[in-house]
Amino acid sequence: MNKFLCCTLVFLDISVKWTIQETSPPKYLHYDPVTSRQLMCDLCPPGTYVKQHCTAARKTECAPCPDQYYAEDWNSNDECQYCNTVCKELQYVKLECNSTQNRICECIEGRYLDLEFCLRHTECPPGFGVVQPGTPESDTICKRCPEGFFSDETSSKATCQKHTNCSALGHTIVLKGNALRNNMCHENTDMSAQKCGIDVTLCEEALFRFAVPEKITPNWLNVLTDGLPGTKINAEHIERIIQKHSPQEQMFQLLKLWKQQNKEQDIFKKIVQDINLCEISVLKHIGRANLSFENLNILMMSLPGKKVGKEDVQRTVKLCKPTEQILKLLNLWRIKNADQDTMKALTHGLKQLKTYHFPKKTLQSLKKMVKFLHSFTMYQLYQKLFFEILGNQVQSV
Ligand SMILES: *[C@@H]1O[C@H](CO)[C@@H](O)[C@H](O)[C@H]1NC(C)=O
Ligand SMILES: *[C@@H]1O[C@H](CO)[C@@H](O)[C@H](O)[C@H]1NC(C)=O
Ligand SMILES: *[C@@H]1O[C@H](CO)[C@@H](O)[C@H](O)[C@H]1NC(C)=O
Repeated sequence: MNKFLCCTLVFLDISVKWTIQETSPPKYLHYDPVTSRQLMCDLCPPGTYVKQHCTAARKTECAPCPDQYYAEDWNSNDECQYCNTVCKELQYVKLECNSTQNRICECIEGRYLDLEFCLRHTECPPGFGVVQPGTPESDTICKRCPEGFFSDETSSKATCQKHTNCSALGHTIVLKGNALRNNMCHENTDMSAQKCGIDVTLCEEALFRFAVPEKITPNWLNVLTDGLPGTKINAEHIERIIQKHSPQEQMFQLLKLWKQQNKEQDIFKKIVQDINLCEISVLKHIGRANLSFENLNILMMSLPGKKVGKEDVQRTVKLCKPTEQILKLLNLWRIKNADQDTMKALTHGLKQLKTYHFPKKTLQSLKKMVKFLHSFTMYQLYQKLFFEILGNQVQSV
């Protein structure tokens, strides 16, 4: 007896919910004209309507909604509602009408419903980022990029991006970022030059040129090597430089090696620092010039002597960072045109550009860069290096 009771209770417990829902539908009051009494009739479930009200003898009779009609709730209606919603322009049918719900329309991708119209989601302008993307019902929410973030595009999706932390990468900031642009970093000194293959930079060339006489005699390299203070460059290195390069390039390569070997010594630190500052300044000008592939090509064609071809420009654009491209190309030009002065060539080239439709801003930035490289500061730098350190050695030759 006990056993039976226990199992019956468990069974009942499971079936309670089902029993109430299925067997006790919600009711409505109905006046029955036959008996003149108020009756409690069962409502009809969603998807159906009341075909016949209940009587004292009979339950409510429900019937399914016909095609294109629906009933959302339990109801006592004597007909279903018509699926009347017609989607507006730029809307699509998200859910088709069925017996339990009306047709649901939604604005197409990229738009939201504002009163009667599907409007395009607002695009946040540069300097602003998306804090909440638009939905079919709501517009994009934009917010000005806070300190340390930027957005350089017009977009309904892009959020503000954090400025690259140049110092965390071991780089220097060339151009500080703002709400509109990222920090522009520069990999410190020699490392970056090697990746893209710039062996002697414009600043180094400007600095080293002072040590290169009008006419290079075969003896000159030895005089220079002997005269340079600090750690001596070993003969093997010198031999390799002589084999690989034209006379002027030999000087540059030698001085570069010498600079690298001695950069830790106190007397050179200031000079190395000055060269780094020069590189940073040059990169700043180049960053502002913002040279496109087309502009680089035109610029290269405008230089005198043997041309750096389109293939070289293509390869350089692929290998080098934007700010390094022009430096690498000028480097290539110098190697092709052995023993020429890059600065003179560039000055000449920039004059030719007036006849092309070259962007004014780009031209100005390049001119400023050339001017900077010719500037008094650089001249002082030459003096410091070659008169104070080398002293009479250089002058006597
Ligand atoms: C009607 O469509 C809705 C949404 O797709 C669905 O949840 C519901 O079960 C459907 N009703 C019937 C009776 O098929
Ligand atoms: C950049 O990184 C350095 C080192 O990781 C950190 O000390 C500094 O706070 C960072 N700067 C910013 C602006 O996040
Ligand atoms: C650089 O030039 C490109 C096209 O050549 C342009 O889309 C871009 O906005 C320019 N960037 C800056 C910072 O001027």
